[in-house]
Amino acid sequence: MIQVGMAYYPEHWDRSLWEKDASRMAKLGVHAVRLAEFAWSRMEPEEGRFDFGWLDDAIDVIARHGMRVILSTPTNSGPMWLYTDHPETVQWGRDGRPTDLGIRGHRCIQSPVFRRYAGRIVEEMAQRYAGRPEILAWQIDNELESNHCTCPSCREAFRRWLREKYGTVEALNKAWGSEVWSGEISSWEQIQPLLAPDCMPDWHNPAFMLDYERFGAWSLADFIQRQRDIIKDHDPDAIVTTNSWFCANMPDFYQEFASLDVAAYDNYPPMDLPEDGETLYSNAFGLDLVRSFKRKNFWILEQLGGAGGCWSPMGPAPWPGMIEGYALQAVAHGADLVSFFRWRSSCSGAEMLGHGVLDHDDRDNRRLAEIGRFCRRLEAMPELDRTGLHSDVAMLYGPDQEFVLKNQRQSRNFAYWTQLRLFHDACMGLGVNLDVAPESAALEGYKVVLVPTHYVTDPALAARLEAFAAGGGTVVVTNRSGVKDKHNNCIFGEALPTVFRRLCGCRVEEYDAIGDDRRHIAAVNGGSFAVTGWCDLLEPEGAQVWARYTEKFYAGTAAITKNAFGAGWAYYVGAVGERALYRSLLLEIFRAQDIPVLTALPQGVEVTTRSGEGGTYRFFFNDTLHGKTFPVDGQMVSLRPMEMKIQGEGGEWL
Ligand code: GLA
Ligand code: ZN
Repeated sequence: MIQVGMAYYPEHWDRSLWEKDASRMAKLGVHAVRLAEFAWSRMEPEEGRFDFGWLDDAIDVIARHGMRVILSTPTNSGPMWLYTDHPETVQWGRDGRPTDLGIRGHRCIQSPVFRRYAGRIVEEMAQRYAGRPEILAWQIDNELESNHCTCPSCREAFRRWLREKYGTVEALNKAWGSEVWSGEISSWEQIQPLLAPDCMPDWHNPAFMLDYERFGAWSLADFIQRQRDIIKDHDPDAIVTTNSWFCANMPDFYQEFASLDVAAYDNYPPMDLPEDGETLYSNAFGLDLVRSFKRKNFWILEQLGGAGGCWSPMGPAPWPGMIEGYALQAVAHGADLVSFFRWRSSCSGAEMLGHGVLDHDDRDNRRLAEIGRFCRRLEAMPELDRTGLHSDVAMLYGPDQEFVLKNQRQSRNFAYWTQLRLFHDACMGLGVNLDVAPESAALEGYKVVLVPTHYVTDPALAARLEAFAAGGGTVVVTNRSGVKDKHNNCIFGEALPTVFRRLCGCRVEEYDAIGDDRRHIAAVNGGSFAVTGWCDLLEPEGAQVWARYTEKFYAGTAAITKNAFGAGWAYYVGAVGERALYRSLLLEIFRAQDIPVLTALPQGVEVTTRSGEGGTYRFFFNDTLHGKTFPVDGQMVSLRPMEMKIQGEGGEWL
């Protein structure tokens, strides 16, 4: 059965409330209570003096009500004594100064002193709780980010990491091409972390930036693995995870979760839903990306439970149906556990206006009722956790691409996520499951592989894609692919898309970074589409032309090509188009590959399928604030705003 969780902070409430809270949660249908991710000062009030009595009691209350615990390590926020007695544990910002105390998340995850104290509290917790039947799983820290701390420990660690990678400063200078602007170093001490936000990132060497991001991602994964190892030493069967999010300092999620048992994510979907805006299908994309972290079903450790209100002015109230609908959407994309944030809004602290399920008044409310409805619907599908998503279509995602395209924008109106999202949105609109996959993923079993902007290039991937196409698959490559080598330097002496040129049967003769401007392309088989961001002017070398530009000095020049390669096809998309372009292109590709599509879905409705030993379930979700009616398999389906309908194996509605 899919599990339902709830974030709870016993340390925020008078003990007299615990019993009643647990009983209300159990009655609601909650299976697991998530505890303790910020409670270090209560567990270790003074250096070396541990107090777990209160946590024991809280766990006992929860267990007495038939629920289990997701226990978090509290390393996100050290106690005040740690920061003041050991200032080297404090994180430093881009300004090269220690962060203010009294907030949260301001610890240096690389500092050896911090790691010693973090290791000790995790060891104490693992000794006490690992292997106990009340514990369902462990969460490491909270919403970790890639390490961009600039403190002396992190400087040292970055230098060590580079030294291990390159061996000599000469090798580093060569890899980075640091002769430009006299950036060559003659000793490791000259290496700095990324400082000075005002000239970030355009003035820095892109090769330095990429290694800095890779170091930050490694540092995070290393921090996670150490905690994981401590817990596993006490209970090798423990389920250990961490709650990821799409943050400013994006980690390499594949590395982040490599040592963990299940991927997890904090799911705060958009609350305003313009019918045709940027947010359309955005949450579906995020969930499919999270499913790629371990290439299997995942958990949601924080799910929208009320209006936000900490990091910015308060957010809007969730519309009726949103809390239930979004929780079911997570399940539809592969979540096997959905834990809501949080039981009750706190009365103190910076996040007092961040709304939990219950308001400060503690009365039952419509948000609670929606979570109850969510629980009832899951109870009606007890076998659902024995299913997963199966896809004919894979889309490659690369952390390196994420890093470099964020730090060196190609043009206004060109972003890696937009490139990915445009293809993903089109799949959602056609009711086609899509797997996001790491660049190293095996391609067997897929019919179509989408490769948006493979910018930092791996020639081995090009060879694998050639074999895939030769065997009958369809590959779609886009603009800004094959541009950089593994150090993030431009590839010399080869026409773009370099390693993909043979597969795509075309070359980029010239390009135009048009930013916010718009041009148009006409498809050879009919249809005209607006494009923006970037225009590659293509010269076919064996490929057919799929669409041509209609304006400017390149009117008549190929914008999209289609190349027969062995038994399959390779498309090259030279521009960034409007939604309709991707729909038209993918419809052609899916039909040719016999992938079933639903052509009558209104925009904003998404359809995904979970199947396996537990049966087959088709999820129809209306991710808009307007009612939608549309035909499916000869019958009309109507969905209220934010409504999820689920169809069982025999076509019955569940
Ligand atoms: C994040 C954090 C939580 C809380 C919520 C507020 O997801 O992990 O501790 O601050 O945001 O919405
Ligand atoms: Zn640091």
